[in-house]
Amino acid sequence: MPTIAFFDTKPYDCQYFDLANKSFGYDIRYFEGHLNVTTVPLAYGAEVVCAFVNDRIDAEVISALYDQGIRLIALRSAGYNNVDLKAVFGKIHIARVPAYSPYSIAEHAAALLLSLTRHIHRAYNRTRDGNFLLNGLSGRDLHGKAMGIVGTGKIGKIAANIFSGFGMKIIAYDKFQDDAWANEIGARYVTLDELCAQSDAISLHSPLTPETYHLIDASKLALMKPDAVLINTGRGALIDTPALIDALKEKRIGGAGLDVYEEEENYFFEDWSLDAIQDDVLARLLSFPNVIVTSHQAFLTQEALTAIAETTLENIRLFLEGKNMPNEVCYRCGTNECHKLKTGKCF
Ligand code: NAI
Repeated sequence: MPTIAFFDTKPYDCQYFDLANKSFGYDIRYFEGHLNVTTVPLAYGAEVVCAFVNDRIDAEVISALYDQGIRLIALRSAGYNNVDLKAVFGKIHIARVPAYSPYSIAEHAAALLLSLTRHIHRAYNRTRDGNFLLNGLSGRDLHGKAMGIVGTGKIGKIAANIFSGFGMKIIAYDKFQDDAWANEIGARYVTLDELCAQSDAISLHSPLTPETYHLIDASKLALMKPDAVLINTGRGALIDTPALIDALKEKRIGGAGLDVYEEEENYFFEDWSLDAIQDDVLARLLSFPNVIVTSHQAFLTQEALTAIAETTLENIRLFLEGKNMPNEVCYRCGTNECHKLKTGKCF
């Protein structure tokens, strides 16, 4: 029975993977710690490593895993920005879960936006404390406002549909425009500068690549309306966080809903409630009344967790049986939509 070394395990991972594994029968060894160079030996004797978004899969880890005989890292995430794709080439194949429930992420983006525009997070705390005052809780209608969608892929398109359902006007920015889709839903593609200047709310759905690193920086924040709300369920480093903090302090932006944070690795998915947060940027973000931080939980729905477990184990099955693995990430272009689809392996 092939063995899978499973890193950064949480109780919900075991629940959904054990259920899906009934059809596969793998020996899954769950480890709570992150995958890093000191935890690599835990994978000794395993055929496959299963990793998540905050496991750092750098050249050192890859080399150590390779020396231990690992030939597949099955990511249980869509994003793979934590993998050194150059270092894996010729050594270890990378599979991912390109789509599980794009609805889970898009709906979370909507939840963050509505919470901020209607102050739900503040109202919840007030009424729990027996305070039924409405002072300071005036919100804004979304109807008729401009929603800027950055990245009109699977998640961005669903987010656009949801916001369109609120009666918002959709403006969009993508490196690769889908004009047919835009015509169909009445969206308008604009430049990123125009999107920043015209939007009442902005939701980020592009992947993190060298090109999108700090896509929203001080110059883009300076273009935004003073009451614009920025939502990020993409990846933390799409935003230059210190620049966002400056904009929030100077009230040049209306609020931020962040499911991801560029330095989330040491904090997200962990309980820090009894400890002193050492990351001053994160601590400052948490201090704003108009900022909501969720701990990279947009994917956390029953539907998404079921799909993630089933697809991850299916990726592993295909690899172990030497079959085409359409969810492999290509080391060259960093997608799973290239020549590899024809060969089934990126090297
Ligand atoms: P997708 O691949 O379907 O769509 C990404 C879109 O971004 C594409 O339309 C692409 O053309 C566009 N894009 C690529 N480079 C760009 C650039 N330089 N500027 C503007 N747009 C660019 O991906 P999907 O499934 O919609 O996911 C988007 C991202 O959401 C993922 O890469 C991942 O980082 C993040 N994500 C976050 C989750 C969470 O729990 N918070 C869960 C799943 C995904």
